Amino acid sequence: MKKSNIFLTLAIASSCMMAVGCGSKAAATATTAAATTAAAETTTAAANNADIPADAVTATGSAKGMDGDVTVEVTLTKDKIYSVKVTDQHETEGIGTKAVEQMPPKMVEGNTIKVDTVSGATVTSTAILEAVKSAIKAAGFDPASFENDVAAGEKAADETLDTDVVIVGAGGAGMTAAIEAADAGKNVVLLESQTMVGGNSIRATGGMNAAKTKYQDENEFGEEAGVEKTLKTARETYKDNADIQALADTVEKQWKEYQAKKEGYFDSVELFQLDTMIGGKGLNNITLVKTLTENSAAGIDWLESIGATCHNVGSFGGASVKRIHRPVNAEGKTTAVGAYIVPILEENVNKRKNIQVLFSTTADKILTDDKGNATGVHATGETGNNVTVNASSVVLTTGGFGANLDKVVEYKPDLKGFMTTNAAGAQGQGIDMATAVGAATVDMDQIQIHPTVEADSAHLITEGLRGDGAILVNADGKRFIDEVGTRDVVSAAEIAQPGSYSWLIIDQKMVDASSVIQGYIKAGYTKQGDDYKALAKELGVDEDTFDKTMNTWNGYVKDKKDPDFNRTSFAAPLDQAPYYAIKVTAGIHHTMGGVKINENTEVLKDDNTAIGNLYAAGEVTGGVHGANRLGGNAVADFTVFGRIAGQNAAKNVK
Ligand code: FUM
Repeated sequence: MKKSNIFLTLAIASSCMMAVGCGSKAAATATTAAATTAAAETTTAAANNADIPADAVTATGSAKGMDGDVTVEVTLTKDKIYSVKVTDQHETEGIGTKAVEQMPPKMVEGNTIKVDTVSGATVTSTAILEAVKSAIKAAGFDPASFENDVAAGEKAADETLDTDVVIVGAGGAGMTAAIEAADAGKNVVLLESQTMVGGNSIRATGGMNAAKTKYQDENEFGEEAGVEKTLKTARETYKDNADIQALADTVEKQWKEYQAKKEGYFDSVELFQLDTMIGGKGLNNITLVKTLTENSAAGIDWLESIGATCHNVGSFGGASVKRIHRPVNAEGKTTAVGAYIVPILEENVNKRKNIQVLFSTTADKILTDDKGNATGVHATGETGNNVTVNASSVVLTTGGFGANLDKVVEYKPDLKGFMTTNAAGAQGQGIDMATAVGAATVDMDQIQIHPTVEADSAHLITEGLRGDGAILVNADGKRFIDEVGTRDVVSAAEIAQPGSYSWLIIDQKMVDASSVIQGYIKAGYTKQGDDYKALAKELGVDEDTFDKTMNTWNGYVKDKKDPDFNRTSFAAPLDQAPYYAIKVTAGIHHTMGGVKINENTEVLKDDNTAIGNLYAAGEVTGGVHGANRLGGNAVADFTVFGRIAGQNAAKNVK
């Protein structure tokens, strides 16, 4: 994950008037210490900026953000804030960094610390606020005196826009569709209810599944016994599913041919289909699965054509072979896919002059003509004003409903009390809008839980760690499942363990190879030990049992055989100290159900006829993933179906 230290200079001040220490606790000491240097620094600052009065004070404060401390520097007098700068932060690019960009100028403009937090970036927003309060206290003032309400602005005028294509939701699918429609020469209006793009897509960590790519062929086929295991499952568990049997016939033939020649890396579009169908327990719409898989390699190439390269191929849950494609940062470490791709999609959206993006604009109604065809949308703007967009094509890319816990519980009461990994905007509003104009829904009760959600923060801990060699142990220090199984199976096994949690175990080798893991360490998610017993002690698990579990596992990795749980993907032994553990539990991650579509992304009614001019792509739709989505298939979904939706919405413009 790309993190950056942004030194954001805002408003007036650019240098210190008086140096004061960090954070509220350190402030008193530092203020005194600062007195020795204050005079010289005051002179410099005054020389640099005549607008700041001589009695202004500059102080710093820190608070814990998502991925480590957020530090701010505030310049103020007793009744006026002159400058707020974030001088150090390690927040998620595109999520937390939005709060870093947006909150400080609002504080200066409104002369108040009572500014809106940035939705989707609550932890960073709160950290900024707390750090600013610390700085104000450190400067010797009372934060409460800066908690004035920002004067309510005028309600903006109602507006009506006419365009070719209106797209609702600026996550991965929405921006992809917008780029494709714009590149087909159409004018696009992209509406986003939040203050930033990205939706759930920016939280995607693992990567993108794609079969038969040029990057897979750069791998040597070796350890994977996954193909035979998958064929066995297909034959034994799904013998009554004709689609799965037909796929198994094809894959069996391809596998035999491959074994005779052993050329290149083995994968096939049909094996990807088979994995996706088995992952989805056979409930998936096979036509949509074919569309997803057949267009996945082209999706990787398209992303590359717009500047997003995902060339590191790894193992992921439920995939028979290495198929997940991941970006790599400048230091050669794998990095989070959403935080990498979303800013590139945003950059591509911004540079296309025929795309207009409206933020804080919440669509609530699809407009239709007297035949029921979509003709545009109604939305509400930031100030409560009406925004009407008339368009030849309407595309829904609003995401799922994983952040709407009432709706989740309505469809799956067992999930009451579960945490969610979802972005705030995933409320299911697009599904409601579509059903109001006659759209059918499918699989609404299929809601995925992910087994490795950090137990305190609900931060997703990527499945990629298990694909790259991590194991899960329970509170007794024992493994309990094939860690690279599908998420439904791993989650169910974890919930059945004492306390319904587990420890994800990694070693220093894994840390060195992954900027994502380094972020988890910075965020304070890990416990650490110099050997297995020391780590066990930190975790409060039996030291001898844990030591035995680790040594046994390393032996299985050497033999490429797991007699306990039949894991078939091994990577490397966990044998380089120090060792790390993250406490993880199951959390709501993806809603597989949604609006019914066909392979052209047309939204369907119950009788399978299409609603004219209406398209949908991404998590707002149902049917692609069946009862359980494979990790890496969400990015594939938004790329493949987002592209199709954009292209077809453009073609539909008369
Ligand atoms: O675990 C993960 O990185 C999640 C990936 C996904 O849901 O596709």
